[in-house]
Amino acid sequence: MSEWVKIFSPATVSNVGPGFDVLGFAIDQPGDELIILKTNTGKFEIVNETDIGLPLEPEKNVASVAVKAMLTELNAEQGFKIVFTRKIYPGSGIGSSAASSVGAVFGANELMGSPFTRKQMVRFAMEGERIACGSAHADNTAPAMLGGFTLVQSYTPLTICPIPSPENLYCTVVHPEIEVKTADARKILKKDISMRLAITQWGNLAGLIAGLMQSDFELISSSLKDVIVEPVRSILIPKFNDVKQGAMDAGALGCSISGSGPSIFALSNQKEIAEKIAVMMQETFKSINIGSKVFVSKVNPEGVRVMERGE
Ligand code: HSE
Repeated sequence: MSEWVKIFSPATVSNVGPGFDVLGFAIDQPGDELIILKTNTGKFEIVNETDIGLPLEPEKNVASVAVKAMLTELNAEQGFKIVFTRKIYPGSGIGSSAASSVGAVFGANELMGSPFTRKQMVRFAMEGERIACGSAHADNTAPAMLGGFTLVQSYTPLTICPIPSPENLYCTVVHPEIEVKTADARKILKKDISMRLAITQWGNLAGLIAGLMQSDFELISSSLKDVIVEPVRSILIPKFNDVKQGAMDAGALGCSISGSGPSIFALSNQKEIAEKIAVMMQETFKSINIGSKVFVSKVNPEGVRVMERGE
């Protein structure tokens, strides 16, 4: 059995317009890299090799909390050293805490002889989300773990459905250099919604899923609309409406907030369109002196993976 593994854990776009807390997909870039080593200390040691901050205390670190949840279920005492090379900024809206917790749980599971399936491991990674923002949602952890698009059909019991998507579906994500804490972006949401909005939203979510499964780009485009969360949260993102309008003008199928923001994503069916959207998004933020990072990627079908292992 291996003594250490090096893991790639991808960023994810959650909510995907109408699917608040239930729909998400993995992208190819960016992603975090983690090396996980078994130790005989019985404790967790966290090392951060980048300047992207993260808590080093095991009880506050999403990765060690998630692995601990797995060890508790195994009734096992095992020490691990987790060395992070982070590429995903916290508070970016592309699943930074999910990438850390999924990567660590997946790696630790490998080192423990793979007692759990990918689907079973999602619930441990969700414990990382609970300490990151107070809510154990799975719309980032599930796609980071399983790859592709995933639907959380139910939280109790946890039921995750992989959703097939068209081969030539491209995602553009822009991350403006501002931070929005998920906990804050959740606090501002309305607790109740009208029946009228609910009907529109569930029609759109069902339409989006049908469009993905049938590779029907027109249906994807007409369904990728969020009438509940985006109107509230978009006020936290400067120039959101301009970025969205620019993406649609450039040929996007749809555009919305990635997770709890401030990242914004757009889907398109051609790489050239996805790249054009990337340029436009960055220029819009630049016009108000906000720097940004931009990523163009296909949907990542595989999710978290082992890059290297050793004795
Ligand atoms: N579904 C979550 C939210 C994703 O929008 O708050 C962020 O982690």
